[in-house]
Amino acid sequence: MPGTELFGAEERKEVADVLETGVLFRYNHDAQRAGHWKARDFEAEVRKITGAKYAHAVSSGSTAVITALAASGIGAGDEVIVPPFTFIATIEAVLFVGALPVFAEIDETLCLSAEGIRKAITPKTKAVCIVHMCGGMGDMDAVLEVCREHNLTLVDDAGQAFGASYKGKSVGLFGKAGAFSFDFFKIATAGEGGVLITNDEAVYKLADTYSDHGHSHVGNNRGMEPHPVLGFNYRIGEMNAAVGAVQTRRVPQVLAANRRHKRALTDALSKLPGVSFARLADPDGDSATFLNMFLPDKVSAQQVVAELNKAGVGGVNYWFTNMYHFINQWDHIKSMSTVSRLNVQLLGAPQDYANLELPKSQEVIGRLISFGIRCTWTDEEVQVLAGQISQCVEQALRPMRA
Ligand SMILES: Cc1ncc(COP(=O)(O)O)c(C=O)c1O
Repeated sequence: MPGTELFGAEERKEVADVLETGVLFRYNHDAQRAGHWKARDFEAEVRKITGAKYAHAVSSGSTAVITALAASGIGAGDEVIVPPFTFIATIEAVLFVGALPVFAEIDETLCLSAEGIRKAITPKTKAVCIVHMCGGMGDMDAVLEVCREHNLTLVDDAGQAFGASYKGKSVGLFGKAGAFSFDFFKIATAGEGGVLITNDEAVYKLADTYSDHGHSHVGNNRGMEPHPVLGFNYRIGEMNAAVGAVQTRRVPQVLAANRRHKRALTDALSKLPGVSFARLADPDGDSATFLNMFLPDKVSAQQVVAELNKAGVGGVNYWFTNMYHFINQWDHIKSMSTVSRLNVQLLGAPQDYANLELPKSQEVIGRLISFGIRCTWTDEEVQVLAGQISQCVEQALRPMRA
């Protein structure tokens, strides 16, 4: 959790600014706020890191994804190609804008592959939601080529990949709009918060309006503002934004530490027979929040996880059985267990979600183990961890080799 590892005086000072004026709301109250505009500061910091022309902060990564989809024109009945490996929010967002998720295969990048997308296209496909998983990035040249060929709108869910880039361009900027999460577990945190980025002014304006009940944000009398479109309340509060701004300023420092630790771990573990790593479409653009290690197959990966648990190694993620990140555990999606009726139930799902065949994704996630990287580790701690992981791998694979 690198963001929260570096929580200190600067965050306290920025929050205190807000508490002193009492203006917890991001809009209006110009005189009372004594020049403090924390949501705007947060957005400016995100623009600086990503190079985006526009950034708009909202209440969470989940609402950033919904806003990105809606502002990109994705809605009722549109088929949207999504990965089976993502945080569940991606799929929820597609469903809650009234669109229909179509699951496609990922590959060793841990993201949707161009080949997987191509196979899932139907005449009703409107968009692709690429999700840049585990700190890395999709293979964007190939993904963009399929989208162009089939005239598909691309939306980037970069919820887990703030700081990552592909060939010098920040994730989040490959589609019409992109979304980042700044929840408690991310490289930079606002407590709860999300930011949408785009280079398209029209998309930005729609996002800004949609995420605040359709307010135009023109003039200085909120009660008299026109509502050009219907929206909802996805606003971020000033206290969260204040923390998000400081944390975002720290990201270059976190990236440098993460990358150093990941390199050291990779160097040590790559000597082990049977171990390989997730493919980074651009190794220089890795945010290095996770070390994503492959074992030869699912059985050996599960043996290694058992050894890691036995040895008490922390920060281990085995997504194959994780409740929120892999489709195998999404029983509520498979049975469409909803609180009230959704568009997908009215129109009919484009796939049988309970009986999907995604062998490549099953194979990739079955043999993947991800280790969360902490920016505050010392070099000695990294070497101790590398030694522990090596021992567990050797212990688990020895009987299989015999
Ligand atoms: C890929 C992805 N999208 C969206 C989200 C949702 O973000 P939040 O928890 O801020 O709502 C997450 C959160 O982990 C995520 O990983």
